[in-house]
Amino acid sequence: MKNLIDITDLSKNEIEELIKVAKNIMQEPEKFSEKCKHKKLATLFFEPSTRTRLSFESAMIELGGNVIGFSSASSSSTAKGESVSDTIRVVGCYSDIIAMRHPKEGAPLVAALKSTVPIINAGDGGHNHPTQTLTDLLTISCEKKRLDNLTIGLCGDLKFGRTVHSLISAMSRYKNIKFVLISPEELKIPEYIKEEILEKNHIEYVETNDIEEYMKDLDILYMTRVQKERFFNEEDYVRLKDYYILNKNKLENAKKDLCILHPLPRVNEISVEVDDDPRACYFKQARYGKYIRMALILKLLDIK
Ligand code: NCD
Repeated sequence: MKNLIDITDLSKNEIEELIKVAKNIMQEPEKFSEKCKHKKLATLFFEPSTRTRLSFESAMIELGGNVIGFSSASSSSTAKGESVSDTIRVVGCYSDIIAMRHPKEGAPLVAALKSTVPIINAGDGGHNHPTQTLTDLLTISCEKKRLDNLTIGLCGDLKFGRTVHSLISAMSRYKNIKFVLISPEELKIPEYIKEEILEKNHIEYVETNDIEEYMKDLDILYMTRVQKERFFNEEDYVRLKDYYILNKNKLENAKKDLCILHPLPRVNEISVEVDDDPRACYFKQARYGKYIRMALILKLLDIK
């Protein structure tokens, strides 16, 4: 049985295969509409979500399967004091696969140790978010037609932004990738990511707090939300929340084929005037998320 806890649980070949299947599904969805008949996905969301949970659920429904679950810890027995391990052992009796989001880093890994069915990490605290990364990879593959030879700007909350951590980990396996890490001093990428991923793999990167400094070099600009829920005090959040607001002016020197991504939800970090720019891909990105999750469910359930 396979789980997806960290993006590197999948080899590059497996990711390529998932992208291929997702593209097939996009082209001929009807061929897949009964693949998961009589199968159940449980979505256990101990933290808020719109896209991730609903794209998982619509993915399973479009594969002909069913969905059970909860969308907040307060509506589950967690509120009575049940442990993650116990919840998982029980939900495994009612479902064939589980997608889980939890505020504690490592909770999906703990769950996987106890689970009798595959576990998918749908976001664990400020740590990882591998299925957002699969979404990002499918988006980049469709929009840029390649996953190597890219200069990728990552902007915003690089400290707590789990989508950024998983994306760096995934993209570091491709050829000729350069990262421009754009953040205020307080929200810089964690040291462990620099040491264990970037430096270990000899990946070129620069750090800056100026969004415009390297704009002209970027093939991808990945904007992120300042992760309010991970801050220890409100004051720091208020000071940093509007540090970057991408608008038309700031894009003046950007490449014509820049691809602007954002895992969403957006707060203020991309001005709505950018939405009409052909380079804005973040709503398309959310759409791609459903197809790659369909491919992932098929893979983890071992359905051809
Ligand atoms: C992200 C997350 O939950 O980490 N959202 C998502 O899954 N698309 C990004 C965020 O919440 O800022």
